[in-house]
Amino acid sequence: MQNLLNKYFSDNYLPKWVVFSLDTIIVAFSFFLAYSLRLNFMLGPSAMENIAHQLPIIIAAYWVGFVVFKPYSGVIRFTLTQDIFLIFYTALTGATLFFIANLTLNLIGFANISLISQSILIIDTIVTVFLMTLSRLAVKFSYNLVNKHSNFSINVMIYGAGELGQATLIALLKSTNPSFNPVGFIDSNPQLRGLKKNGYLISSPEEAIRSVLTERRVSEVIIAISPEKILQGEIEKLVDFCIISNISIKKVPPVNSWINGTFSPRQTRNVEITDLLGREEISLDSVNIQNGLADKTILITGAAGSIGSEIVRQLMAFNPGRLVLVDQAESALYNLQMELVRKYNGSKKYDMVIADVTNYQRMENIFRKYRPQIVFNASAYKHVPLLEDNVCEALRVNIGGTKLLADLSVKNGVEKFVMISTDKAVNPTNVMGASKRVCEMYVQSLTSINGHSTSFITTRFGNVLGSNGSVVPLFTKQIENGGPVTLTHKDIERFFMTIPEACQLVLEAGFMGKGGEIFVFDMGKPIKIYDLAVKMITLAGFEPGKDIQIIETGLRPGEKLYEEVLALKEETHATHNPKILIAKHRTSDPYFVRRKIDEMLACAMKANETELVKKIKQLVPEFVPQNPKYSEIIRNMTLVNDDMIASDEIFVMADSHINQNVFTALNNCK
Ligand SMILES: NC(=O)c1ccc[n+]([C@@H]2O[C@H](COP(=O)([O-])OP(=O)(O)OC[C@H]3O[C@@H](n4cnc5c(N)ncnc54)[C@H](O)[C@@H]3O)[C@@H](O)[C@H]2O)c1
Repeated sequence: MQNLLNKYFSDNYLPKWVVFSLDTIIVAFSFFLAYSLRLNFMLGPSAMENIAHQLPIIIAAYWVGFVVFKPYSGVIRFTLTQDIFLIFYTALTGATLFFIANLTLNLIGFANISLISQSILIIDTIVTVFLMTLSRLAVKFSYNLVNKHSNFSINVMIYGAGELGQATLIALLKSTNPSFNPVGFIDSNPQLRGLKKNGYLISSPEEAIRSVLTERRVSEVIIAISPEKILQGEIEKLVDFCIISNISIKKVPPVNSWINGTFSPRQTRNVEITDLLGREEISLDSVNIQNGLADKTILITGAAGSIGSEIVRQLMAFNPGRLVLVDQAESALYNLQMELVRKYNGSKKYDMVIADVTNYQRMENIFRKYRPQIVFNASAYKHVPLLEDNVCEALRVNIGGTKLLADLSVKNGVEKFVMISTDKAVNPTNVMGASKRVCEMYVQSLTSINGHSTSFITTRFGNVLGSNGSVVPLFTKQIENGGPVTLTHKDIERFFMTIPEACQLVLEAGFMGKGGEIFVFDMGKPIKIYDLAVKMITLAGFEPGKDIQIIETGLRPGEKLYEEVLALKEETHATHNPKILIAKHRTSDPYFVRRKIDEMLACAMKANETELVKKIKQLVPEFVPQNPKYSEIIRNMTLVNDDMIASDEIFVMADSHINQNVFTALNNCK
């Protein structure tokens, strides 16, 4: 019975022409009824003759209304307010057109067309609207009645009573396979509590957990709210409750991925861990950013990477002059190109440039050709364990690349150079972190040199969720393969941001900075990787420890159990954005830093790992490698070394050295 009803009322099985025909019958019947009511049910031969002559005209007039407003196009079991409006507009159009046609034909004396009485016309309009609405309500009522007693329907609650939530409601109501039975909304906005939208009650997340989900026998919650609006913590309890209560959780895909601009429940996706870790929405200083970008040529290195590509996406939204997208990864660059073509179809100016940022000649040509005014440096090697085994290459690319880009920026009069760094650069314990600290020191040191106009800004933040090779894609793959999920230590904790969140802050900091600052981002609370694994396994529909095992593999060389808190109050200054702070830091002597870097790069070229590690320690005294191989080298270093300058000394030297020679050297650099 249920299936039959579903079939009957679905778009597929109740063709529009059937609804069209039924509505036409209602129009004809209403007209007859209007005449009858007006004449007190005394329809004489002349009235019958009038009806016979006028009926085709009123039907034709209503057909025009049908074609324009399409009141037949919705599935008729869903008589929402919108449908009633459509019926009303249709009736108004039909009645008006009929009146005009009747008047015109009567005036020109067209065969036996007598003028319609206005009262009949008004009664007809009211009766038509009433009957068409009643027909839809009757169908909706009978459908709901059967649906209520059916075992086939799935009771669903929608998280989010905004526009997306309402679009989801309509899509659910239209769906018939399987039959979804929406029972209400969940929304944390206190102003909506207890109200109804489209006839469906809005409950708070607490009410839903306390009673509504259980009482209404809900078996699915659909999250219909954009990820950036989901507040961390708020949704967490709901998700935990759903997991324990065996209620499946789905999410509505982003609007831009809806097929033909409409959403069907078949498109709902599993909720991912990244959806649940959103934070408060970041309000960007859009005016400052927009002004900073207007008509500018912006070069982004590592443009095909996780951070670089998101910076590109966000910059595009601000309509800059031209973007120059540099990366050495050809396939990844191609994928980004395809995405931009699909999205912008030639309406934005950008160039895809395959280039290695450590290739001086190639990069100089690119700077000369495009004359960028702003540079975002997001190209780097970043995988901690890999770089532990490839020190020379790590330093050649990370330090060599950054130095080359910074030098070319100075040489070519770039206005702003925004360097993407990482929390691993703070008191580094691995080669990757140390290499990034050296990069920071280099760009910082350039700030203290007179005679150039480039502002160097550093942004430092922790892990971003879902970036290439990070823990989330790794766990996702492991879960897809049936496990086990591997983590290095059960107690390991990390700070996380989403990629869009981090890149929004990079833009904001980039345009807030005057030069020389190291901006650090408030990363929120650390997350236990073990908890992350448990949640991801559960969200994928498995039981951790039973369906999918979680195993510890032991900390890797250079890996910390807990990461440094970047935004400690005593080590930072506030900015107008509470999520962005300026780290207090030592300024490095440009001359010394440059000399050390040149020595390091020379060692890297000679593949002299031991000397290289020593040079890092000389420049970054706080580098305490956890990799036994490197800590051994450092232990064997002469403790008092002329070349090893304590941090405080560097600070003092920086103040007294405004070294014009360094700038001259930069201009001649190669
Ligand atoms: N992913 C994170 O969690 C995270 C967190 C904080 C900071 N960061 C920093 O952001 C930067 C980018 O990280 P990501 O996650 O986007 O990494 P990614 O590996 O996704 O992207 C790096 C990009 O740089 C490109 N690249 C590397 N060497 C290059 C070279 N010699 N020439 C041209 N292109 C080159 C790569 O092809 C890649 O596309 C790194 O410096 C990283 O330390 C990343």
